[in-house]
Amino acid sequence: MAKILEGKFFSNLMKDESKKKIEELKSHGIEPALAVILVGEDPASQVYVRNKHLACEELGIKSIEIKLPTETSKEELLAKIDQLNSDSNVHGILVQLPLPKAIKSHEEEILNRIDPLKDVDGFHPMNVGNLVIGKPTLIPCTPAGCIKMLELAGIEIDGARAVIIGRSNIVGKPMFHLLMARHATVTICHSHTQNLADITRQADILVAAMGKPRFVTADMVKPSATIIDVGINRVERSADEIEKLKSEGKNPKPTKLVGDVDFENVEKIAGAITPVPGGVGLLTVAMLMQNVVRACELQIENRI
Ligand code: GUN
Repeated sequence: MAKILEGKFFSNLMKDESKKKIEELKSHGIEPALAVILVGEDPASQVYVRNKHLACEELGIKSIEIKLPTETSKEELLAKIDQLNSDSNVHGILVQLPLPKAIKSHEEEILNRIDPLKDVDGFHPMNVGNLVIGKPTLIPCTPAGCIKMLELAGIEIDGARAVIIGRSNIVGKPMFHLLMARHATVTICHSHTQNLADITRQADILVAAMGKPRFVTADMVKPSATIIDVGINRVERSADEIEKLKSEGKNPKPTKLVGDVDFENVEKIAGAITPVPGGVGLLTVAMLMQNVVRACELQIENRI
């Protein structure tokens, strides 16, 4: 059976690192501050934003929540970003995605408006470019959190064969660069990849980030591999499962969260695996807190 890489354990280690740095900044009269902009009412986004706010409170980061109505225009949102960019008491700016339909097509322009030094998501082309040339500054939180977890867990990246399923700008592509910079041999697979299982079976480190519930099955995994499950998918529970839970005296909801990995079966052959929920999601938030501290330090360096 695989070792379960519990997000809570690693996120607590990461938060402890941040706490020390925040105390240090505060002793110099600087209170790190994160502004999170949520446009519209997307229920999942509301949960994510709340989790970010709670983590800020826990660590002593000032949390500025800006909730804008669904009808907010691109110009109004850009004006808000401009105002936060020029406020020296705000160190991190995050626009929660997805944006409402009416302004979704302007996502790139909106994200690019954020000052690269305050871009705690690491989505600005300048930060992406720095990552690609091996001079990382602010790195997307989910892949950065996964790498940090691998390092803290003592899982060897140098020389490992790493396979990533999914080529998104938020996870797949930055993960590729982070693993390669640590001397892994990295392959990215995606929806057009032929003979996917032949490739995934070679992976010492397999990252599933394509958003398909329980897509990675046990036959696609090399025994003893490390499996990182980035997927968060809401699925219906089967009638059998609901009956079973009821017979155990529980009151199950009709849906539940699962990852991109068939955890139950893959766990039996993998060396280590992250669960969903309780895995990578917690690392993302902990890494966001580290990015706020980093952004704060970058802005101080820039002023000197
Ligand atoms: N929505 C889902 N994940 C993310 C993320 O990492 N950053 C932002 N801004 N929005 C998201």
